Amino acid sequence: MTLLEVADLRVAFPGPTGDVNAVNGVSLHVEAGRTLAILGESGSGKSVTAQAVMGILDAPPARIGGSVRLHGRELLTLPRKQRDRVSGEEIGMVFQDAMAALNPVFTVGHQIVEVLRVRRGMSRVDARRRAVELVERVRIPAARDRLRDYPHQFSGGMRQRIMIALAIALEPDLLIADEPTTALDVTVQAQVMELLAEIQRDSGMGLILITHDLGVVAEVADDVAVMYAGRIVERGTVEQIFAGPAHPYTEGLLASMPRVDRRDEQLYAIPGAPPNPARLPAGCPFHPRCPRVTDECRVTLPPLAALPADRASACHHHEEVLRATRR
Ligand SMILES: Nc1ncnc2c1ncn2[C@@H]1O[C@H](COP(=O)(O)OP(=O)(O)OP(=O)(O)O)[C@@H](O)[C@H]1O
Ligand code: SF4
Ligand SMILES: [Mg+2]
Repeated sequence: MTLLEVADLRVAFPGPTGDVNAVNGVSLHVEAGRTLAILGESGSGKSVTAQAVMGILDAPPARIGGSVRLHGRELLTLPRKQRDRVSGEEIGMVFQDAMAALNPVFTVGHQIVEVLRVRRGMSRVDARRRAVELVERVRIPAARDRLRDYPHQFSGGMRQRIMIALAIALEPDLLIADEPTTALDVTVQAQVMELLAEIQRDSGMGLILITHDLGVVAEVADDVAVMYAGRIVERGTVEQIFAGPAHPYTEGLLASMPRVDRRDEQLYAIPGAPPNPARLPAGCPFHPRCPRVTDECRVTLPPLAALPADRASACHHHEEVLRATRR
């Protein structure tokens, strides 16, 4: 069942030298009970896409177009009050920086209890009990006592867990996690990611996981959307994409992934840098960096074309790419 359907989403920010086109027609869907990973280099529009879905972009100044449907209901045209209710209750969000998401002057217990009281109308006693359960659910030892602590009294990993507890407090249908573990050290990253994947499986919610980490994608995602310059350039299941990407950018990302079986070889790096969203190149936005570029690519923007088996690629030469990469 399709939970979230985003169609031709566009987000532009007015800038001193013209518009910054951060998102340029993103279409994606999230199925209930599945995890969609959104991959792409810095500045490709992953967070802005998430913020537009979550309804937390200030517009104006941002200009937002296209469609975002949750359970078939259009969110972009909802009046502010209803939109806030959907964002608060049906979609949860976890960020990279828990310190920014949590209020430093209240105990974490107070923050969880307040959400439950205000949004669910729970009594103080019931909300307290539920808060203990939630903090236990994210595996924080001595949950009852820790509810009396302030955010700064937790380690980075524990703070991420608190933010996850807060995000799932209202049992959202969709959780958006935007680089939830980037600021943590590697072992803690793995633990938090495992927890997130486990909660997703148990609750059956849909999860959008934004990450730079292909290892994480292989481990926890079902579906993948690869973003470049504010567009989805490839979409498919994890198996499809790892078995043979259909876009040269994905091919480059996979080639630059560290592999245990090839430890001594030098890692590939995609040449050049992502384009400035205020001055996108003509034709395919990846063409200045693409090893498979042809004249057509410099002139014509490739649409995101449907391929067999419900995958998609925005490359004029996707057939050749697939033939070359399929293992
Ligand atoms: N509020 C804003 N006002 C103006 N420009 C913005 C705003 N937010 C993001 N941008 C620009 O939009 C583009 C996309 O940003 P976004 O944060 O979505 O990238 P990202 O893919 O999440 O990158 P990262 O991996 O670094 O988090 C960038 O060029 C960014 O500078
Ligand atoms: S359209 Fe051309 S430049 Fe763009 S990714 Fe495909 S081969 Fe490369
Ligand atoms: Mg981001």
